[in-house]
Amino acid sequence: MSLFWSIYVGVLVTSNLGLAIFLYIYGTRVKIPIEGDGTTGHSWDNGHLRESVRRLPRWWAMMSLTSIVVAIGYLILFPGFGNYKGLLGWTSEQQVSEARVANAQKLDQMFARYRQYPVNQLAGDSTARQYGNRLFQDNCAACHGTRAEGGHGFPALTVNGDDGDFVVSTALAGRTGVMPPWGAVLGEQGVTDVANYVLSLSGAPHDAARAQAGEPRFKETCAACHGAEGKGTKALGAPDLTDHSWIYGGDLASVEQSIRDGRTGHMPAWKDRLGEDQLRLIAAWLRYNALTEREASIAAPVADARR
Ligand code: HEC
Ligand code: HEC
Repeated sequence: MSLFWSIYVGVLVTSNLGLAIFLYIYGTRVKIPIEGDGTTGHSWDNGHLRESVRRLPRWWAMMSLTSIVVAIGYLILFPGFGNYKGLLGWTSEQQVSEARVANAQKLDQMFARYRQYPVNQLAGDSTARQYGNRLFQDNCAACHGTRAEGGHGFPALTVNGDDGDFVVSTALAGRTGVMPPWGAVLGEQGVTDVANYVLSLSGAPHDAARAQAGEPRFKETCAACHGAEGKGTKALGAPDLTDHSWIYGGDLASVEQSIRDGRTGHMPAWKDRLGEDQLRLIAAWLRYNALTEREASIAAPVADARR
C-alpha cells in the first residue's frame, strides 16, 4: 500500500474509533433535562403518552466498551492500521502457504505408500486408479479425451498408455513431436505414392500399384523415424503407422497432408504443475484403461476397425 493510502486508512480508522469513544463517553455522561414530573416534557397522543427518561442500560454500556477495547486490541495485534503490520506479524499469504505445506505433507504420506511400487503394478490398485482417473480428467482430458481416446492433433493414450514409465517420463518433460514437411522432397506424385504405402501398412483401403511405388521411398525417407516396418519410435513421438489409431486422420487426403506439409504436436511439460507422484497415479489409470480398451477391441473387432 502506498504512503497516501496508508495515511488515508489510518485517518479513517482513527476518526471512526475516535467517534465511537466520544459517543460512548458522551452517551454515558450526558444529563437530559427533566421536567418537574420526571419526564422530558415531550408528549404524544394528545398528551396521553409522556416521554420518560432512562439512563443507558449497564449491559449496553459494557457491550459498547468491550467492542471498543477489542477493536483497539485487534489493531495492535493484527494489520489494519495502514501499513502497520501488527505485533503478531500475521499475513493471509503466510496462512495460505502454511496450509499448503500442511496439505502437501498429508498428500506426501499418501503418495509414500504408492512410491514403493512400479507404475505398471500400481495399475492393479483400484484406489490409485481412482485418484489417477480424477487427475487425468482435470489435467489431460481436455486434449486427450475423457477415455484417453485422443482427438484431431492429440494422440490416443490407449496406444502407448500401457507403458507406465513411458507415460510418466513423457508427461514430466513434455514433448514436441516434429514431422518435417516432405512435399518438396517427394513431389506431389511421390506424396500420393507414399501415402498409399502408409495406408497399406494398416490394411486400410489403398491403391496397390501406388503403394508399391511408394515403398522404397518410405524406406529411404521415413524409416529413420517411423521404423523400417512403420512401427514408429516412441521416444521421438513418431507414431506407429501400422495400428488403426491416427492423430490427424486416416483417410488418404489427411495422410497426404501429414506427409506433404508436416505436423507439429506440442505436449506441455507437467513436472512443475503435477510432479512425479501424481503423474504416476495418472499413468496407472492410463495403463489400466489402455489394457481394458484393448481387450474390448479384441472382443469386438468391428469397433477396432472403426478407428
Ligand atoms: C494442451 C493439450 C495437451 C494436454 C493438456 C496434455 N497433452 Fe499429452 N500430448 C499432447 C500432444 C499434442 C501430444 C503429441 C505430442 C507429439 O506430437 O509428440 C501429446 C502426447 C502425449 C503422450 C505421448 C503419446 C504417445 O503415444 O507417444 C503422453 C503419454 C501424454 N501426452 C500424456 C499426457 C498426460 C498424462 C497429460 C495430463 C497430465 C497430458 N498428456 C496432457 C497434448 C496434450
Ligand atoms: C524426423 C522424424 C520423422 C520423419 C523423417 C518422418 N516422420 Fe512422420 N511423423 C513424425 C512425428 C514426430 C510425427 C507426429 C507429429 C505430431 O504428433 O504432431 C509424425 C507423424 C506422421 C503422420 C501422421 C500420423 C497420424 O497418426 O496422423 C504420418 C502419416 C507420417 N508421419 C508419415 C511419414 C512419412 C510417410 C514420412 C516419410 C516421407 C515421415 N512420416 C517421416 C516424425 C517423422
